[in-house]
Amino acid sequence: MANDRPTLFTGAGGILGKWLRPRLIETYGALRSTDIVDFGPALPGEEIIIADLADAAAVDRLVEGAGRIIHFGGISYETSFDQILSSNILGTYNVYEAARRFGAGPIVYASSNHAIGFYTRDDRLDANVRTRPDSLYGVSKAFGEDLASLYYDKYGVESACLRIGTARLDPIDPRHLSTWHSYEDLLRLIEACFNAPRLGCTILYGVSNNDRSWWSNAAAPNVDYRPQDNAESFKDVVIPDGDTRDMEDPAVKYQGGPFVAADYVRRKA
Ligand SMILES: NC(=O)c1ccc[n+]([C@@H]2O[C@H](COP(=O)([O-])OP(=O)(O)OC[C@H]3O[C@@H](n4cnc5c(N)ncnc54)[C@H](O)[C@@H]3O)[C@@H](O)[C@H]2O)c1
Repeated sequence: MANDRPTLFTGAGGILGKWLRPRLIETYGALRSTDIVDFGPALPGEEIIIADLADAAAVDRLVEGAGRIIHFGGISYETSFDQILSSNILGTYNVYEAARRFGAGPIVYASSNHAIGFYTRDDRLDANVRTRPDSLYGVSKAFGEDLASLYYDKYGVESACLRIGTARLDPIDPRHLSTWHSYEDLLRLIEACFNAPRLGCTILYGVSNNDRSWWSNAAAPNVDYRPQDNAESFKDVVIPDGDTRDMEDPAVKYQGGPFVAADYVRRKA
């Protein structure tokens, strides 16, 4: 059974990776952690392999013998297309293609809210909306979601694509009151995906139980995700004088926030 094999965790040296590693070992046992950068010594139960996801042969070595895959590796911000192409587009392709050939999976893939960042803060979204990326980074995440869809429909590789909002310890700006995903809830979501009796290819929003959330997981009833945290408990710290932002500022008007605003030069219709 694939699930008796080590869990492969890409992006293990990143911000979320560092928090998740010990918790994943607790839950799933043997962890094969990888990143392009050195991220220190292995934890008990962990094997570390430094590799570039753009290197197909290296990714084959990562995936061979692995069971579950948590694919969080890649560029997590807006940058040149060359870098996005290499780490996110080619890198994600290499992971899916190796998973198909080696019979690994299911895959939990870190997509992003930036795949749907051009919806406005008045829009309410479920998993059925079309993507509206707000950056080349967001386009690469939409590509990953489509790749997951192809690899399920054509080859039966099961995936969950997590449109993660803002995963961080605490919310610190007004947008986070809608987008915050606590670390504990992120772990709950990953676990719920792997526990799903039938994962298929499911898109989920990575978000806590925030009063001001824009996103619903109602279209993914096969995954029993029950978030426990709510950004509203931080409201008095985050907006002590109420929400005083300019609602027409693209960084406020659109769900993708600062990713929308960067280089935004669209003329008014
Ligand atoms: N943190 C969030 O709020 C958030 C929100 C939406 C999506 N995500 C996604 O979740 C994942 C993890 O986020 P994070 O905040 O930990 O980001 P991060 O940038 O801290 O971690 C990503 C890791 O991927 C590694 N990486 C980049 N290119 C690589 C390559 N070619 N080969 C191998 N490794 C490579 C980096 O070295 C880094 O350690 C990312 O895919 C990110 O896009 C995060």
